[in-house]
Amino acid sequence: MNSSPSSANCWGCWNNLRCGRRLPHTGSALRLSVLPPSFGLWRLIWCWLVLVVLVSVAGCERKGRAAVGDGLPPVLKIGVYMPMTGDTATFGTSSMGGIRLATEQRNAAGGIRGSRIELILEDDRGQPEEAKTVVTRLVTREKVIAVLGEVGSARSIVAASVCQQKRVPMLTPSSTNEKVTRKGDFIFRVCFIDPFQGEAAAKFAVQDLKLRRAAIITDVKNDYSVGLTKSFRESFTRLGGTVVIEKNYQAGDASFNAQLTGIREAGVDFIYAPGYYGDVGQIIKQARELGIRVPFIGGDGWDSPDLWRGGKEALDGCFITNHYSVDNPDPRVQAFIAAYRQRYGDTPDALAALAYDGAQVLYAAIERANSTDGEKIRDALAATRDFPGVTGTISLDANRNAVKPAVILELRDGSYHYRTTIHPSSDQETEVPNVHGQAPR
Ligand code: PHE
Repeated sequence: MNSSPSSANCWGCWNNLRCGRRLPHTGSALRLSVLPPSFGLWRLIWCWLVLVVLVSVAGCERKGRAAVGDGLPPVLKIGVYMPMTGDTATFGTSSMGGIRLATEQRNAAGGIRGSRIELILEDDRGQPEEAKTVVTRLVTREKVIAVLGEVGSARSIVAASVCQQKRVPMLTPSSTNEKVTRKGDFIFRVCFIDPFQGEAAAKFAVQDLKLRRAAIITDVKNDYSVGLTKSFRESFTRLGGTVVIEKNYQAGDASFNAQLTGIREAGVDFIYAPGYYGDVGQIIKQARELGIRVPFIGGDGWDSPDLWRGGKEALDGCFITNHYSVDNPDPRVQAFIAAYRQRYGDTPDALAALAYDGAQVLYAAIERANSTDGEKIRDALAATRDFPGVTGTISLDANRNAVKPAVILELRDGSYHYRTTIHPSSDQETEVPNVHGQAPR
């Protein structure tokens, strides 16, 4: 899938963007029933009159838009910014799959109070600076009423500053770094945060796998990776483990030989690698070539069909913390998976699932707000409680974060297998502690 990198794209029928049909009941259908006179000058005058009436009706309709569909105009513009190209392009593709499906389903069911949702997508190429530029464009030029995006925390952090300053609500489906929603009261997420995700990995390593000696390898220029390393290190140490050695890299590095050789000499039980799929796939491949056999444990950032590119076997016996499992028998989850497969011929990953939930949470909030006003949508979003998502029940806490369990997935034979669920501890975020986890198989 290609896109032109910088401008607001009409992704046309591929994405239901800017080309959606007008819903049958959204417009004010005005019917004129008239008989034209059959002679010369009068016919001319008649035609002129008809023209004048038509033009003014069209004008009235345009002016009257704000009144259609209660407090909503007939078309609701939602801005989306995603990495559709670049090193994390599968994050963007999957997320758009989820957002598009949620939007199509919603529009087919009458939109939001009869108003049609129009998505305006910008590709930020996975670059924080580009995210800032495109989100500024969405907000100031396109005048979107709310923004969905990004996946990568570093991009969301930068764009959140723009949305907060312009007072346009932004909801990230999947950015887990703490700093994102700290940008202010217009910034929301429907996923858990990394202090919990890192702790979940540490708990699983110590309590389930009984591993005590860890190495950590961190993408030092990536807020997400740095944040996860910090929370994992703290939790793992608190639970009695020892971080024996820590190494750094930068996204896009070609060789991890020096770091991996050091780790091999240190003799550890496992390696924690909280990076994104492209680098992590390479790191693990090179580790196996160096004879390192211990498991790697990672986070949601591994979740990509491209992770397996370096070879499936290298990943056997590794684990990740993630947001959802396709193995979850919950009928709501299975209905989503079936709809997604039917639409795209593909199984949705966690990003697609979170984006599907995120779009729905936003649309539900706009419906309750019954307004395009940023503050009203913000207040409605903040009041989100017990939303039945496919990634769990979503309640937003006082910091505009979702408090949800994490699943542990085992990598085997080129796919993910549900292993267990880790629930947030009661001291984590106590405001809305009771969220439903996924039933173990
Ligand atoms: N949590 C990651 C981040 O904040 C993004 C991500 C989420 C990647 C889910 C894959 C799956 O950077």
